[in-house]
Amino acid sequence: MNEGGDNPESKTVFVAGASGTIGRAVVRALVADGHTVLAQRRASTPASTPITKLDAGTVPDEWTGAQIIACDLADTPALARAMDAHRPTVVISCIASRTGAPKDAMAVDYAANSALLEAAQAGGAQHFILLSAICVQRPKLAFQHAKLAFEKELIEARIDHTIVRPTAFFKSLSGQVARVAKGGKFMVFGDGNLTRCKPISDTDLARFIALCVTDLAKRGMTLPIGGPGPAISPHDQWEILRAIMDDGRPPIQRISPRWLTRIGAIFDTAARLSPLAREWLAEKAEYLKIAHYYATQSMLVLDPETGEYSAELTPEFGKDHLSDHYTDLIEAAR
Ligand SMILES: NC(=O)c1ccc[n+]([C@@H]2O[C@H](COP(=O)([O-])OP(=O)(O)OC[C@H]3O[C@@H](n4cnc5c(N)ncnc54)[C@H](OP(=O)(O)O)[C@@H]3O)[C@@H](O)[C@H]2O)c1
Repeated sequence: MNEGGDNPESKTVFVAGASGTIGRAVVRALVADGHTVLAQRRASTPASTPITKLDAGTVPDEWTGAQIIACDLADTPALARAMDAHRPTVVISCIASRTGAPKDAMAVDYAANSALLEAAQAGGAQHFILLSAICVQRPKLAFQHAKLAFEKELIEARIDHTIVRPTAFFKSLSGQVARVAKGGKFMVFGDGNLTRCKPISDTDLARFIALCVTDLAKRGMTLPIGGPGPAISPHDQWEILRAIMDDGRPPIQRISPRWLTRIGAIFDTAARLSPLAREWLAEKAEYLKIAHYYATQSMLVLDPETGEYSAELTPEFGKDHLSDHYTDLIEAAR
């Protein structure tokens, strides 16, 4: 069936989390491919309003050509109605806990995805594509366990699945650029070479996810994916910035990741001793664990034979390089 017009491969695709970084890029990529795109966001605008009828000032450009589905994923009847009304053949989940705190991770990375899967199956969808993360290979954090629990549920479901596990996004490696452009130091943990990743741009990742919609070889697969390579460390990121700024800056500051463990242990102990503030303190301890994880673990495929992260085993996709992204950010900040 040709669901979307001129493209014979076009499908009706429901994108959950269309307001997120990757969700927005995925909507754009799918619209460009000629699919009929249903962009789900939380229910603060009238459900299913054609994008052309919304106030242009409130509609992100990225959603042009898509239809907005304003619907909370926890609102099971509303979600079922949306699926029933639009009958998507493919559902893509780009939702993610915005904090990574244990309660939020369980509510979003597990429970909201689970509700979405149930609604997708009941609504007759044939394929569910999940945006996950490469870091679930070595799970130590609450949000990673929540993601893995859902991955398992999805693999065991009767619907076709594709799980996409990307390495680091450009935005996760860009948090220091504005400060550095104003003369600040570039901070690294250890010597700056404790970790490596193959950064992937939003556009390249979205293109990869869009390919999963039509590429039958990607069905039933769990796909780690990086950008075009090579694998780089935080020290390499500093070198890239130095080459762009071309004036000897930014200075580098080295910090021991042990500080994160020590402060986290203080929060953990305080959480055990203070019943009233337990949840708040435990949440802070989890954020420090998350920071320590990213300071010490590479975002590359784990070699099952050596137990080490391997750049060679990490597939590459796309054409965008972090250096060009940094150049744009530095120019914008100057
Ligand atoms: N950052 C990285 O380097 C990296 C690397 C690999 C993998 N990943 C994975 O990529 C995924 C998404 O990343 P992203 O940067 O696109 O995320 P994001 O920008 O934080 O977007 C999260 C999306 O989830 C939605 N959401 C959050 N809480 C929700 C809730 N309670 N109910 C309904 N929707 C909710 C958000 O809606 P609102 O806009 O309404 O909040 C938003 O659409 C995550 O699974 C992450 O682990 C990230």
